[in-house]
Amino acid sequence: MSERGNFITIEGGEGVGKTTNREFVADWLRARGYKLRITREPGGTQIGEQLRELLLRDQSPAPAEMTELLLIFAARAQHIAEVIAPALAAGEWVLCDRFTDATFAYQGAGRELSTRSIEHLEQLVQGNLRPDLTLLLDLDPRVGMQRALERGEPDRFEQEDVAFFDRVRQGYLTRAAKAPERYRVIDASLALPDVARQLQRELEVFVDER
Ligand code: TMP
Repeated sequence: MSERGNFITIEGGEGVGKTTNREFVADWLRARGYKLRITREPGGTQIGEQLRELLLRDQSPAPAEMTELLLIFAARAQHIAEVIAPALAAGEWVLCDRFTDATFAYQGAGRELSTRSIEHLEQLVQGNLRPDLTLLLDLDPRVGMQRALERGEPDRFEQEDVAFFDRVRQGYLTRAAKAPERYRVIDASLALPDVARQLQRELEVFVDER
C-alpha cells in the first residue's frame, strides 16, 4: 500500500491572492515530483459545486446562518468522501483552496456562531482528518476587499462589511497562534515575488521534515 499523501490547505480573507499563490505552490510541489490533486471549498465535487453556487449566490431571503454552516459541512462531507480521502489514501498530495479553518474564521469569528458547534461538526464530518500544513495569506481586509471588488460583482460573502472581515482575519490569526506546528502565516501585503519567496521557504521546511 502506498504511503498516505499530505494534505495542504491555503487560507485567507478576500482578495489575498489565493489563486495566484496556489498556482505557485502547485508548480513548486509538482516540480519536486509530488503527485498533486488541486481542489477547493466549498466545491470540489459536482454536488459540492452546486452547494457552492447556492452559498455564494446573492439571494433574498438569504440562508440562515445555521443553514449556511450545514451546507458548508454537507459540501465538505462529499468532498472528503469523493476526492480528499481517496487521493490521500492513494499517496497523492492534496492542495485545497480553503477548508475547515475558513469555517472557524467566517462562520465562527465572522458570523459569531459557536466554536463548539463547529468543532462538533468537524469531528462528525472529518473524524481524524486535519490538514498537515495550512498556509495562511494574511492581509488587511481593507486592501483585500478593494482587490476583490475590482474583480467584478461581489458574491454574497464579499458584500459583508469591513467589521466582518476584521473578525475573519482575527479568527484566522488566533487559530494560527494556537497551532503553530500546522500554520504558516504569510504576509500577503508584499509584492508577489516576495510572497512566493515566503511560501517557498515554508514548503522547503515542510518537505524536508517529511
Ligand atoms: P473563495 O472566495 O475562496 O472562492 O471562497 C468562497 C467563499 O466561501 C469565501 O467568501 C469564503 C466562504 N467560505 C465560508 O464562509 N466558509 C467556509 O468554510 C468556506 C470553505 C468558504
